[in-house]
Amino acid sequence: MAEHAKKAAKPKPSTIPISSPAPAAQVHLSPDGSRVTATLPTGESVAVLLYGATVVSWRSGGAENLFVSDTALLDGSKAVRGGIPLVFPVFGPPGANLPVSKLPQHGFARTSRWEFLGKSTSESGAATASGGDDSVKLDFGLSPVNLAPEMRAAWPFDFSLIYSVTLGRDGRELETSMFVRNEGDVSFDVQLLFHSYFAVKDITQTTVAGLAAKTYADKVLKTAGNGETAEALAINGEVDRVYSGAGPITILEGGVPRLEICRDNLADVVVWNPGAEKAGGMKDLHEGGWRQMLCVEPGAVATWQTIEPQDTFEGGQIVKVLG
Ligand code: BG6
Repeated sequence: MAEHAKKAAKPKPSTIPISSPAPAAQVHLSPDGSRVTATLPTGESVAVLLYGATVVSWRSGGAENLFVSDTALLDGSKAVRGGIPLVFPVFGPPGANLPVSKLPQHGFARTSRWEFLGKSTSESGAATASGGDDSVKLDFGLSPVNLAPEMRAAWPFDFSLIYSVTLGRDGRELETSMFVRNEGDVSFDVQLLFHSYFAVKDITQTTVAGLAAKTYADKVLKTAGNGETAEALAINGEVDRVYSGAGPITILEGGVPRLEICRDNLADVVVWNPGAEKAGGMKDLHEGGWRQMLCVEPGAVATWQTIEPQDTFEGGQIVKVLG
């Protein structure tokens, strides 16, 4: 027998299997403390500014799903024109003689600095394409101590907000949910909305399905109780509508379903695009930006949510990349 064959026949020492740790989600706070970024092992990511707890990026499959204007101010001097600004405790310009009357349009949540409360991750074993974390959740908090004095004076209620941003399903799903608690001893009324700006290639080729037969208030025509007749709503010019009672909404590009938006405990959804003319007057929307964005905004805004002392309200949106 050849020498090398004899060697090969020798019993090998048994090896102790060392399992390498499954890849983990990376969560990073920027050096200036202004933004939290979470990245899954697959490379999908989400970025959130502490200013407004505004989600300013959600990347999956190498593409950006959210629109942020090139001229948006990201320095905390103005609500971000893009991403997912948070609307609370009032939607739109506040009406007169209401407890929210002294607040600015869309309230204070989008212009306040939130606290980063921490992260949690989960993995779903064999079902995970990456073999590691397939989901990461970031939590943010806001309470009266975080408000600018003029906002605190304008809406002097005791509340706490916990906002959770979850990048799931290997980054192909983004969930945002808000937990509102009345910490005081008088009830208050609130509205809540996720002002999501989705990136589209060309608004003239973009349609919105899931609204047929639903009633809506038209903020452009200033009419209420309209019934949607389109199976897939095309965006021709300025559109600003509050739909109530719809199911899941689908954004299609060139007739191809791209994103699905589901709501949790939120009755309404706003569809907004400023159109060319109105966009021309918006300094923080770059030229032609209106063509590249569509706001589909889940919320509770057609009525008010009354929250009794020590009681809570919770609502959320789940956005899925289709295909
Ligand atoms: C939408 C409203 O949610 O937000 C529109 O329905 C409004 O009426 C739009 O114009 C943008 O608001 P803002 O305050 O961010 O310019």
